[in-house]
Amino acid sequence: MTTIAAQEAFLQAFHAERPAVTAEAFGGGRAPDGRSSYQLLCDRVAGRRRVLDLGCGDGLLLELLAREEGRRLAGLDLSPQSLALARRRPALSGAALAKGRAQTLPFADDSFDACVSHMALMLMGEIEQVAAEVARVLSPGGVLACVLGGGAVGGEAYERFLGLLRRTVEEAPASQRIPALGDRRTRSREGLDEVLAPAGFAAVDWETVPLDLSGPVAQVWAAVSGLYDLGPLDRAAVERLRTAFLAEVRDITAPDGTVPCAFRIHVATTRMR
Ligand SMILES: C[S@@+](CC[C@H](N)C(=O)[O-])C[C@H]1O[C@@H](n2cnc3c(N)ncnc32)[C@H](O)[C@@H]1O
Repeated sequence: MTTIAAQEAFLQAFHAERPAVTAEAFGGGRAPDGRSSYQLLCDRVAGRRRVLDLGCGDGLLLELLAREEGRRLAGLDLSPQSLALARRRPALSGAALAKGRAQTLPFADDSFDACVSHMALMLMGEIEQVAAEVARVLSPGGVLACVLGGGAVGGEAYERFLGLLRRTVEEAPASQRIPALGDRRTRSREGLDEVLAPAGFAAVDWETVPLDLSGPVAQVWAAVSGLYDLGPLDRAAVERLRTAFLAEVRDITAPDGTVPCAFRIHVATTRMR
């Protein structure tokens, strides 16, 4: 069993090296309606003035949220390096960007109308504490909207990559494996309800959306290789994985060089009862 301190130390060390990795991997992804997973979250909190981004990373989502006039925005993250990138965004000059843990939010009760979180809630330990803290800082009727990872779609590059990655990790020494991260219950609607309902949230609305990450092979590799599991692997193992991946996707590459790649996300939305 890894302690929560070890999990968070791993996340901090990983993002110190790769502070914008998620935005780089998923920012270009498109849902069937042509919107990115970040834009999908913006839609869920349209009209909400005071918005907190939990695990805001490099601030891409906050920048999109800032397009709506008159908003008061806040972001919280464990990673000082990611926050430094967020602070460089001119649109976020007025945002409150804080280094901290979602389990102990440095904000007053009732200070937000909405809380968003993109690919971060499923990494958090002590998740009941996170739920209680989000409930505390949201005003009555406040919305919580999250994008959670849902795995490969199947029959395309992401699925093939995950198969190769599994073998690579199995062959790697234990010292090159990541700690178990987060709470499994955040990966299903029932599990998330179990976590959120005691904190005062209504039943979760749960939508599963395929995100198209197709593109030239170098771009697809850049997206799939952003996974945490690659962080501790040594350079030679990553290079072997890359070579195997390039060979593995050759037969599905279109004549124009496009490699089909898709990742499933869950968009979970609820509000304070
Ligand atoms: C996969 S990244 C996503 C970053 C950003 N939301 C995005 O999608 O571009 C997960 C982020 O959550 C942050 N994080 C994980 N656990 C956290 C916690 N307990 N409290 C605050 N931030 C956390 C990490 O530091 C990391 O920046």
